[in-house]
Amino acid sequence: MRTPLIVGNWKMNKTASEAAAFVRELTKKLPASSSIELVVAPPFTALESVRAALSPSSPIQLGAQNLFWADHGAYTGEISAPMLRDLGCRYVILGHSERRTLFGEQNEGIQKKLRAALTHGLRPILCIGESLAQRESGNTDSVLTQQLRGSLAGLDSLAMATIAIAYEPLWAIGTGKAATPDQAVTAHCTIRDVLAGTWSPAVANATRILYGGSVTPQNIHSLLKSEQIDGALVGGACLQVDSFATIATIAESIGV
Ligand code: 13P
Repeated sequence: MRTPLIVGNWKMNKTASEAAAFVRELTKKLPASSSIELVVAPPFTALESVRAALSPSSPIQLGAQNLFWADHGAYTGEISAPMLRDLGCRYVILGHSERRTLFGEQNEGIQKKLRAALTHGLRPILCIGESLAQRESGNTDSVLTQQLRGSLAGLDSLAMATIAIAYEPLWAIGTGKAATPDQAVTAHCTIRDVLAGTWSPAVANATRILYGGSVTPQNIHSLLKSEQIDGALVGGACLQVDSFATIATIAESIGV
């Protein structure tokens, strides 16, 4: 049984004080029980204020949007895994398509970041996904396979047990045009097949695969209804308290 995981990727939004006010409001509107895991990933600058605004028993966990693979050193502008752990982060999003396309990240570097996260007890959420051109030319499966194998190469089953995969087709991110549940399920099945073939059926069965790309309170139910979709990585709709709380509430009610 895979515990559903809902993650809000705030991207470059909200100051530290806005972030604190946001999570205080969000906390009031969340469902009482917690059969799902809920994560917010604010910008680095807001991690401390969000942590301070959450009670130790809060159902909201803290995630980061990126890290650098070295623990410390002369890497101007970078943030390390130990720094994130020290701020209370449990999760880290890695390989987001915006990092890949805008900042030139590639599978080899993402692999190093994954290892750094694992070394320091952070749970990676590895983002993969195809562009529209890749989909239209029939290359979705090979792109997903390459991204998975390239980023996860050499990791053993124990490491794989702490990794979640987020399938985020580039054409669905920020476009208002989410993948249909069928499209998402097809991609998730491809991902699970690669995991089964590269590691084992047990790894494939245990790994949480989230969908991301224009997730809203309106479409979350139809997406999570499928047993192949173990949660969501939410961008735009996680920036409003009501819409993110609604998404969490619907996910809770489905219990995926
Ligand atoms: P949107 O939900 O805004 O499409 O963003 C998805 C995303 O990139 C989450 O990481």
